[in-house]
Amino acid sequence: MSRKYTSVETRYLEERERTLRGLGGLSRRGFLKVSAAAAAAGAALVNGVSPHSFMTVRVADAQPAGKGFRFAYISDSHIYEEKVNDRFVRGLLRAVDDVNRMSPQPDFVLYGGDLAQLGQPSELAVGAQILKTLKAPVRMMVGEHDWYLDLGDKWRELFGQPMYSFDHKGVHFVVLMSVVEKDFWTARKLSPMERMKTVAGLDNGAQSPFEVGVEGRAWLEKDLAKVPATMPVIVFSHSPLYKLYKKWNFWTDDAEPVQALLKKFKRVTVIHGHTHQILTNRIGNIHFHGMLSTAWPWPYAPEGLPELTIQMDRPDPFDPNDGCGDGTFDVSEGALVDSIYRLWNRNPVTVKASYVATGKTDRPRSNNRRGY
Ligand SMILES: [Fe+2]
Ligand SMILES: [Fe+2]
Repeated sequence: MSRKYTSVETRYLEERERTLRGLGGLSRRGFLKVSAAAAAAGAALVNGVSPHSFMTVRVADAQPAGKGFRFAYISDSHIYEEKVNDRFVRGLLRAVDDVNRMSPQPDFVLYGGDLAQLGQPSELAVGAQILKTLKAPVRMMVGEHDWYLDLGDKWRELFGQPMYSFDHKGVHFVVLMSVVEKDFWTARKLSPMERMKTVAGLDNGAQSPFEVGVEGRAWLEKDLAKVPATMPVIVFSHSPLYKLYKKWNFWTDDAEPVQALLKKFKRVTVIHGHTHQILTNRIGNIHFHGMLSTAWPWPYAPEGLPELTIQMDRPDPFDPNDGCGDGTFDVSEGALVDSIYRLWNRNPVTVKASYVATGKTDRPRSNNRRGY
């Protein structure tokens, strides 16, 4: 990555590393001072307050065994052009830096949608440029913020078709376009930007609910027809593939028929963006994991929250990175996943497949700070 695209946080970490490497040159008196500081940092860690720089060590230690593998997940960056607001650009840069520091590298990185804020070609182009600096191969998924200005023209030009599948190490992966909306704009004579802003205002009640849609379901049915029922399946969708809270479009309107198409498989994992928070659910054979945003956390919906969800604490409003982050999935041989939420400025949270299956075993511990 060029210097121009190194985030403030990474520059801070590099400076810290240089300082620690320079410890050998300290006098005894200086060394004792630094030792005391390190001991204090260790004590803070024991109390559950861990600066971000410790997290990568923990993540690097948790390598999957056997035939499993690992991929990383970055989502919901909502970037504006840098000259308008560079905070969300910096959020994406930080995630890219985090993932590029993983050793060994993940097999691939899934980008979970909402790369842009208002679907503008310049926003998508900046996002694409930053994602090109990832060392691992990138797979893209679309979100509603990427799509409703030009109905996907620029996104397709940059990234290809929004629905596709691929096989990787014995797992069938499907990337869905789950944010299809029925035409609410033509009759109301909305301009492209008015349409985009209507979709971007999730709770305005002026749009149609998300769905995979008739064409999408037909594509999915055809795609899955060639996959044996014993093959593990992982599905990526932008919206949760179940009905959580319609008023905020935390919702997929045709969730039931989509779930029905997945019923023949013994094990299915669905991983989604859009809700910008830790979310856990299981419906029959399907495990669901909602992922973090690099831009901001949404509050939890006032109703409809799945019982399995262990809520992350409400973030600190004075810390723009709190409640944000990226994530890692350790895929077991059976293709169920341990989802590692790498919350920036907090300890990581792991939601294991065993917890999703039982609701009891390996219950994720609560996060390390009180809510605000
Ligand atoms: Fe989003
Ligand atoms: Fe979204």
